[in-house]
Amino acid sequence: MSDPQIAGAQTVDTIANRGSGGNAPIIRVRGLTKVYHVGEVDVHALRGVDLDVMAGEFVAIVGASGSGKSTLFHILGGLTPPTAGTVTIAGKDLAHMSNSQRTELRKGTVGFVFQKYNLLPTLTAEDNIKIVEYIGGRSTEFTPEFVEVLKLLGIADRMKHKPSKLSGGQQQRVAIARAVVNHPAILLADEPTGNLDSQNSTAVLGLLKDLNRRLGQTILMITHDPEAASYAGRSVHIRDGTIV
Ligand SMILES: Nc1ncnc2c1ncn2[C@@H]1O[C@H](COP(=O)(O)OP(=O)(O)OP(=O)(O)O)[C@@H](O)[C@H]1O
Ligand SMILES: [Mg+2]
Repeated sequence: MSDPQIAGAQTVDTIANRGSGGNAPIIRVRGLTKVYHVGEVDVHALRGVDLDVMAGEFVAIVGASGSGKSTLFHILGGLTPPTAGTVTIAGKDLAHMSNSQRTELRKGTVGFVFQKYNLLPTLTAEDNIKIVEYIGGRSTEFTPEFVEVLKLLGIADRMKHKPSKLSGGQQQRVAIARAVVNHPAILLADEPTGNLDSQNSTAVLGLLKDLNRRLGQTILMITHDPEAASYAGRSVHIRDGTIV
């Protein structure tokens, strides 16, 4: 079994440096706006957001309900198109990507953790993590390095369990494992502790910090909770669709 420290050091090389292009930010957002049209009403969810995140950073986006956090999250992951502005992820302009390139981005470059875990109830934890392979009808063993990540997450011995047999905190840790299994350059987490009690919140936040410190994982975490934000290296505040 490989030493987790050594495995971690190797992964820093592959994750933190991937696509970062020297000193260029891995996430670069300029003048991002998003207007939702609901009937006769225009909702200005984002009003000119600028943001740079460097590879290896752990950044918290903090803001009240309705401030535009999830909108930003969905645009960064290529799930929603912006109204105006540019988003560059690992040197690639999202606007100039085809649908299939955006799908590749979601499979390879960006890993998502959602507030409500989004695990499939009929699949075991292991198959949830291997979901992309599972859909493709193939399945390979986890690498020794990934088994170390599962141990770091404290779920290595829960892989044969279905979500209903796991606690909320364990389900969220499975969701984090699923988000990092393909070594995404960026981990995007939208309120990852939103449904957890304080003990499980502390555990999940601690391990996000560990993934950042030990594996050099770039993390952008959205939260309304200043306590959760204190685990990040840097906090960015958003109010009414604007970074303040
Ligand atoms: N699909 C949508 N259609 C119309 N309006 C939307 C849509 N999604 C979000 N909005 C509106 O955009 C604004 C920002 O919403 P968003 O979900 O980004 O906020 P948030 O900061 O994530 O809030 P919360 O902390 O409650 O999750 C809100 O006024 C919301 O009502
Ligand atoms: Mg939200």
